[in-house]
Amino acid sequence: MIDQTLRVFKELNSKDFRILTGIEIGMKHFEWVPIDELNKYTKLPFDKLEYRIRKLVLDKLVVRTTQPYEGFQIYFEGYDALALNAFVKKKSISAIGDEIGVGKESVIFEAIRQPELAIGGPVPVIIKFHREGRTSFKQVKRVREHIGDREHFSWIYAARLAAQREYEIMNKLYPKVSIPKPYDQNRHAIVMELAKGSLLSKTRLLDPEWYLDEILRQVKITYSMGIIHADLSEYNVFVSEDCVQLIDWPQYITPEHPQADEILERDVSNILVHFYRKYGIKRELNETVAEIKNEAEKSAEDKKEDAEGRSESGTVNKGDFEEEDFEEKGPEEEDFEAENFEAENFEAESFEAESFEAENFEAEDLETEKDLETEDFEAKDSEKIISKKESSDKD
Ligand SMILES: Nc1ncnc2c1ncn2[C@@H]1O[C@H](COP(=O)(O)OP(=O)(O)O)[C@@H](O)[C@H]1O
Ligand SMILES: [Mg+2]
Repeated sequence: MIDQTLRVFKELNSKDFRILTGIEIGMKHFEWVPIDELNKYTKLPFDKLEYRIRKLVLDKLVVRTTQPYEGFQIYFEGYDALALNAFVKKKSISAIGDEIGVGKESVIFEAIRQPELAIGGPVPVIIKFHREGRTSFKQVKRVREHIGDREHFSWIYAARLAAQREYEIMNKLYPKVSIPKPYDQNRHAIVMELAKGSLLSKTRLLDPEWYLDEILRQVKITYSMGIIHADLSEYNVFVSEDCVQLIDWPQYITPEHPQADEILERDVSNILVHFYRKYGIKRELNETVAEIKNEAEKSAEDKKEDAEGRSESGTVNKGDFEEEDFEEKGPEEEDFEAENFEAENFEAESFEAESFEAENFEAEDLETEKDLETEDFEAKDSEKIISKKESSDKD
């Protein structure tokens, strides 16, 4: 899969990227992009085009059909290659390493980024390639309603939209909320800082109370900024010696969402249940949720009082978000990108984020404490053991 992409990535040249982009663009209008279109688009003579496409097909970046006419579609792997190429051109990354995670709807790779202004050493980052359209039928269905007969384009659209959503919210939250620093986004992919430590689910904490409080504190800050994670659990929290970091944001909602209360409750419940099962720590769900809400209200009032709208929560911190970088594109890509997405009005506007979010939430019975049993207290072999570093001001 993507391993294959990485292997072939190095061998792709600018013509290959042009062909891939031509197919990407063509897929907005054709289920199978005819070779004539690619010829027009790439300005490559047919024999060269044929030769290069055959290679792309062999490398599984592109799929070919002969019925009802000869045409091509891009695979996720081809789309990955386009995003990677954009990141390399923009110097968002300088090298890519191994796959380090596969989520429900993503594939994650380690990468290296050169430091800004050449200060300090290389920065370990990850690339999150979204895979929404492939795995989430519901989202695809939802997207389909909006793009009509362009169904063939829906996975590109769903994955790209999810990445944009996630990147935008991360820029809003960082650094107020403890999350990995977002660096860049292109198509369905995001470059962000490597999270510190290990996943909460795979860790045995020696000071669980501190970590639980710290996670809840982050949920509170997030809520006070008008955001609810909506997929919070031990699988989306990193813990290290000195901090916790919340990851995986594309499904976030705002408190105006019709099911906001249940969703916030579910987020908090997932965390409380984890700490109860694994460490026997008991916290009352309703009280904990009420505390989060109260605090958020308090901080909203404080803000109103001491800064007339200026420091409104949720404004993007300019220093952390290089807009230019975000939009900057390699010369080859510029015309494609503009033609491809910007001019299209089916993007963000025609897609109702609200209904997308609502779909994501399936009313689940929140587990009550009495249903729960604590787990074995023995640390599993695969678990990392982490304890809070002594000197910290976070306590
Ligand atoms: N910034 C990061 N640093 C290190 N590992 C990460 C990072 N982001 C994601 N991962 C790893 O990839 C997995 C999937 O990422 P996640 O953002 O949770 O996507 P999904 O929606 O697919 O669950 C995570 O469980 C984690 O193991
Ligand atoms: Mg996840």
